[in-house]
Amino acid sequence: MYYLNNNLKDLVRIFDQNERKNYLRLDLNENPGGLPQDFIDSILPEITPQLIAQYPETHHFSEVLAKHLNTTPEHLCLVNGSAEGIRYIIQAFTSESGKIVGVVPSYFMFQVYSEMYGRSFVKVPYNDDLSMDIQNIISTLTPDTQLLILLNPNNPMGNVYSETEFQEIIKVCEQLEITILVDEAYHYFYPKTFIKYALTSKHILVTRTFSKLFSMAGCRLGYVVGHPDEIKMVQKLCTPHNTNAFAMLVAQKLLETPGILSSLIEDYTLGRDYLIKELNSHKYLHKGDAGNFIFIKPKTNALTIVEKMKSQKQILIKSYSNVGNFGTCLRVTIGAKQYMERFLDALFELDNTN
Ligand SMILES: Cc1ncc(COP(=O)(O)O)c(C=O)c1O
Repeated sequence: MYYLNNNLKDLVRIFDQNERKNYLRLDLNENPGGLPQDFIDSILPEITPQLIAQYPETHHFSEVLAKHLNTTPEHLCLVNGSAEGIRYIIQAFTSESGKIVGVVPSYFMFQVYSEMYGRSFVKVPYNDDLSMDIQNIISTLTPDTQLLILLNPNNPMGNVYSETEFQEIIKVCEQLEITILVDEAYHYFYPKTFIKYALTSKHILVTRTFSKLFSMAGCRLGYVVGHPDEIKMVQKLCTPHNTNAFAMLVAQKLLETPGILSSLIEDYTLGRDYLIKELNSHKYLHKGDAGNFIFIKPKTNALTIVEKMKSQKQILIKSYSNVGNFGTCLRVTIGAKQYMERFLDALFELDNTN
């Protein structure tokens, strides 16, 4: 008998990311400038026919990454982008119809995977002033909750949790036996991390990516951090050879090249500080700059601005609707100053009330 997985029938996926070549792309929180050309050139001699022909070997890169994180490889599972790690965590630590709690708005794939695997995703909304009270999260947790998803910082809201708040959440999750997934895709833009909890306790896992500060979204590489027993379970779900040789080579070079990460952070910080100063002086309301993105409340219509940015200025940005007091607003990726200048010139021209 022909069979189609029922969960897929109404599942909505958005595949709109192609043909962006001639645009300034400030819509997906990539690094618009990318890695320095001389860094890329220095890697090219190592792209040999053998590297391409052989199945990728993860041993060496896992050691390099573990050293960077002050841990050992048993605590790490390499994945093809952290989105894949998130999928595996949902598969490993929740059951059919199991309850997953997460804040909204947030990275949409949490809800997509929940639906794909027939889980029940319970949404914790933000307050109207765009703050998130952890009591809102805690009061949603019940004995039948299997997974709590937190983002530190959250995309797109940019909010973060303090250590005390996180510890309070852990206490409740331990009592109710709930696994915690902390998505740290925007770590490095925001330096505080909860990785030590994933390294020292069970039932807390952290996902990280090389797509954001490391500027390698095109290579697809991420990792899950956790207790070795749980990492083994995540590894069982991996497609064979799920992380590619080229991605691991570039990431290894980034981790081993002195000064390159701090110069990426510096470029971003200069761009962010410039953007915020200009937005303030033009009296724009904005929110959430802990990651490499920001919410901006426009003075005119957000949807029209997104459309005109694309058609008249070749700049791609996103709009979000129903964002508390901000209503429908813009979400813009933060990059080096030159890209922020181009974006701001366009914004001040298009978002004009005169
Ligand atoms: C919060 C968050 N988590 C995870 C991801 C997925 O990143 P990747 O699969 O490229 O590692 C994204 C991508 O934008 C994100 O915003």
